[in-house]
Amino acid sequence: MSFHNYRGITMFGGYGKCLICFSFGKLNAEAMITSDPNYIEALHLDPIASLALKRYVSVSEEKEFIDRATGKVENQDFVLDLVRLYADQTLDLSVFEKYQLSEVMDYLNRTHGLYTNRMLPKIEMAIANVTRHFPDHPISAILEHFFHRYRNELLEHIELEESKLFPYANELAQGHRRSDYSISTFMLQHDHSIESDLVKIIPLVEKEYPEVAQSFSFRAFRTLLAQLGVDLKIHHLIEERVFLSKVLQLEKGQ
Ligand SMILES: [Fe+2]
Ligand SMILES: [Fe+2]
Repeated sequence: MSFHNYRGITMFGGYGKCLICFSFGKLNAEAMITSDPNYIEALHLDPIASLALKRYVSVSEEKEFIDRATGKVENQDFVLDLVRLYADQTLDLSVFEKYQLSEVMDYLNRTHGLYTNRMLPKIEMAIANVTRHFPDHPISAILEHFFHRYRNELLEHIELEESKLFPYANELAQGHRRSDYSISTFMLQHDHSIESDLVKIIPLVEKEYPEVAQSFSFRAFRTLLAQLGVDLKIHHLIEERVFLSKVLQLEKGQ
């Protein structure tokens, strides 16, 4: 990640755009965030930390989490701790205990949206690119089969959480406990094997089709997959160790 100076304020990223607040102008919000040594320190630890911010900006990289009226960043403390976790995945997750259930759920929802609307389509495009470079090669069928299976699995996983778990958690937070659902029911239907399924395809292609594995188009696909893998790992950590533990506490209290 590069530094640059914009009207005397140190920012990250290139081409005059700040990767932290994702804007070219609006110095009020920029100045507030970029002069915050905590952000600078957290983002400087590891470039992967900037991945944390992806779900807080739209495709056009318009800032979404900055309240334009006040120049304040919604969930700023949460986002900052998230950046730290992306930079150091061994971070003690107890730092997230202080946040409201709604803040954690906002992160989970945004992350599901990031996977569905941006990361999966990008991976699909990368596969199409590999296929274009290797017409009449078995790799096309292998990658397409992998992708369709994987996408369905991930979408089913997300659907279960959004249609059952999140409404249940919202009701609990409002003091209503349903009798026909519980965290135990959810846990029976839910696991995170999807994370390990993701990486299996890479060694398989490297072993069986080295000519493909060495190509630029395949390496681009591998990079996107690795990015999704890291993101899923952190998403699952927050989901299980922060979100579910909060929901369990609510459940026990009612
Ligand atoms: Fe999830
Ligand atoms: Fe999950």
